[in-house]
Amino acid sequence: MAALSVSRHCEAKSANTVITRHSLSRPFGKAISFAESDCFGSLNPILAITTALPKPISEPRTRTNFNKNWKFFLGDESGAKSNAYLDSKWRLLTLPHDWSIEGKFDEKNPAKPEGGGLPTGIGWYRKEFTAPPNYQNRLITIEFDGVYKNSEVWINGKYLGKRPYGYSSFSYEISKFLKTGKNIIAVKVDNSAQPDSRWYSGSGIYRNVWLTSTAKVAVSNWGTFVTADYVKANSFHPNVHHQLPFDIAVVKIKTNLINKTGKIQSAIVVQNIYDPKGKLVKKDAFTIKKLGAVEDLTNEFYDINNPMLWSIENPFQYKLVTQILQNGKVIDSYETKFGVRSFDFDAEKGFSLNGKSMKILGVCLHHDLGALGAAVNVRAMERQLEIMKAMGVNAIRTSHNPPAPEFLDLCDKMGFLVMDEAFDMWAKKKTKNDYHLNYPEWHKRDLEDMIKRDRNHPSIILWSIGNEIREQFDSTGIAITKELVGIVKNLDKTRPVISALTETKAEKNFIYQANALDIYGLNYNHKLYKDFPKNYPGVKFLATETTSALETRGFYDTADSIRRWPKDGKTKFTEGNKEWSASAYDNVSAYWGSTHEETWKEAKKYDHVSGLFVWTGFDYLGEPLPYPWPARSSYFGIVDLAGFPKDTYYMYQSEWTSKPVLHILPHWNWEAGKSVDVWAYYNNADEVELYLNGNSLGKKSKQNDDLHVLWDVNFEPGTLKAVSRKNGKEVLVREVKTAGAPAKIELIADRKNIKADGKDLSFVTVRILDAAGNVVPNADNLVNFKVEGNGFIAGVDNGFQASLEPFKANYRKAFHGLCLAILQSTEKSGTIKLTAIAVGLTTNSIIIKTGK
Ligand code: GAL
Repeated sequence: MAALSVSRHCEAKSANTVITRHSLSRPFGKAISFAESDCFGSLNPILAITTALPKPISEPRTRTNFNKNWKFFLGDESGAKSNAYLDSKWRLLTLPHDWSIEGKFDEKNPAKPEGGGLPTGIGWYRKEFTAPPNYQNRLITIEFDGVYKNSEVWINGKYLGKRPYGYSSFSYEISKFLKTGKNIIAVKVDNSAQPDSRWYSGSGIYRNVWLTSTAKVAVSNWGTFVTADYVKANSFHPNVHHQLPFDIAVVKIKTNLINKTGKIQSAIVVQNIYDPKGKLVKKDAFTIKKLGAVEDLTNEFYDINNPMLWSIENPFQYKLVTQILQNGKVIDSYETKFGVRSFDFDAEKGFSLNGKSMKILGVCLHHDLGALGAAVNVRAMERQLEIMKAMGVNAIRTSHNPPAPEFLDLCDKMGFLVMDEAFDMWAKKKTKNDYHLNYPEWHKRDLEDMIKRDRNHPSIILWSIGNEIREQFDSTGIAITKELVGIVKNLDKTRPVISALTETKAEKNFIYQANALDIYGLNYNHKLYKDFPKNYPGVKFLATETTSALETRGFYDTADSIRRWPKDGKTKFTEGNKEWSASAYDNVSAYWGSTHEETWKEAKKYDHVSGLFVWTGFDYLGEPLPYPWPARSSYFGIVDLAGFPKDTYYMYQSEWTSKPVLHILPHWNWEAGKSVDVWAYYNNADEVELYLNGNSLGKKSKQNDDLHVLWDVNFEPGTLKAVSRKNGKEVLVREVKTAGAPAKIELIADRKNIKADGKDLSFVTVRILDAAGNVVPNADNLVNFKVEGNGFIAGVDNGFQASLEPFKANYRKAFHGLCLAILQSTEKSGTIKLTAIAVGLTTNSIIIKTGK
């Protein structure tokens, strides 16, 4: 390796300077640029690669969670911006907070059923706090991860600014407005102009808030950009002039420094890279003799040899620590996680990650967390992702807006690819008061901020500049597309830019005509996949949104025919059924979409289809197609709003994972003699044999492109049993039994030990069982909850899309035998005891432990 490593030589410009630039083994790399910096060739012991981080830290950067002790008022109180305002009657709460989810469903709510049918309006938040230590000599910044929407912020009565887009993260520097003792921050949130969204947005400071304190010379917020290309042995990289006989990572770091002292400064910048095991693998240092108000530095490493790659299976992350030193002390330390990986979209072969071909098996997700509304909770997001992972999903599209930062952290950590999406509309509206009103003034800032905030996440492989944008249908689309792609490329050239399109004729699609996108993203139209290469030779292709099938968990309507609800563009609602439900046999879809099987069969056939994002992984609040009120949440999910999988989940699991799957549907409670379609999803087996009360109903095997097998069975009560076999050997057995009357309650917690941090959650599934322990498939008993100890109910749900029961309650009706109680810890360690009571059923309790 030594033979291939060349140390960079730097000229000493000042004999007095002791700063060293070293540790750069750079196999024939390009020059490194340091704005206003010098580097020198002698080794300084304090920066030797084997040493720990330079010490001491004089007064480190702090980033404190700023969620507690906010006062909230629902309504407009213009006087509340002033410190003199008395808020003693306001409600005290902890952020993140979504006031809409606390409200009552009402068809007349201005957000309409499409927006979830919950209240919106104007709300105010105020928080009294003490300025951080030594604030006069520090840079104090308040960071909002997201406020929906039109936030305006005041500190001690001084206006800091506004941010219309509810999905952008933003910050204000508040140092100069702080005073010793009491300070007050006031935030007005205005979500009153409705309708403003095609789905449920939530209202309020629904993401985390942080208070950051740094020295006046510091790395700026989102101030690093690390790209880390994985270069396979004996392959070519544009910046490395020779092919190497081993794998390397080419790491490029851009750092933005700020100096708010008002004077030119000098500083030493140290950049250390730690591998995923925490071992220091690279170290670099250089001086900046004349640090102005803002400085951009670029630094490159060409020799992280045999790097540990970020992948879906092993999402390893490296860590860059950037330190600024003055007078021998570290005055700032800023961490950036990144991953080493390569990926490629190919017009013929599709997608590959780290040189390995694979299909993007994605789902679209909106940001709401069901019964918790839009209020960010890391555990709730993690649970969603765990459920998706177990189904075989490897990619998420954050439809149709930038997500919470923690969501991307989870995707990095758990191994999901991400298509990060900026907008659902540009200058042309989709709903009356949506973002089109802010687009002209804000789109550049919002798009730039999304890229700057998110570009270090290894999970992100695609930037989407918009979903089904109206401008694709007229010539204004050309200029806007070019502009937006330019904004993205200016900040990140390492990821392709895409837009989710619906106009399928190239000559009529003006976003496509702009000729600026890297990949053709098509929504729906699965029948066009086949001939895409013929119609668009050499164009890379991704199915950015698919399917839009409609299902209600546990509801089965005859599987004989496929229904399109609504049937065409002229029909808004379908006749449907009086249960406000859609069959879980995967035989209902919107007319523009397809059943799950229809699209997946096409997508899996062709290598040129890089992947797909199914609409949607989970049901979400709002957009309750195909039903009118009281339907208020979507039917599109593969998993319902409470997190209970619908049957199709197992079709994907049988196709998208290698773990053995056998799943039969429907339940086994029917009228005697009824002819019932029994389906089985399976894999890793040659056949499935079905038995009713011990009698074989025959063996079935999937033929051609079948994704399930089926039997037409005359119902008789008892036990339906399926056995999958490979080479005659049993693989799996599944049984479903005719249930008797509801008799008892079963409580199953996803986790029985949670953190006593005031945030952690235990999701408790409530199952209504008969005396023999079978789930009663149509049980709808009202379950009342009692909570004792160190926790509370954060929300309840049952997954029924037309339920108007509140989410914040201590009761819930079961729906098809199930409901859910979400328990949240307090900060006190101990236990949470949940008791579930229903008339006529045996009561049950469960105990969750909470600890530090
Ligand atoms: C798509 C749209 C999604 C959702 C979906 C429902 O056209 O991009 O946001 O509305 O339809 O089928």
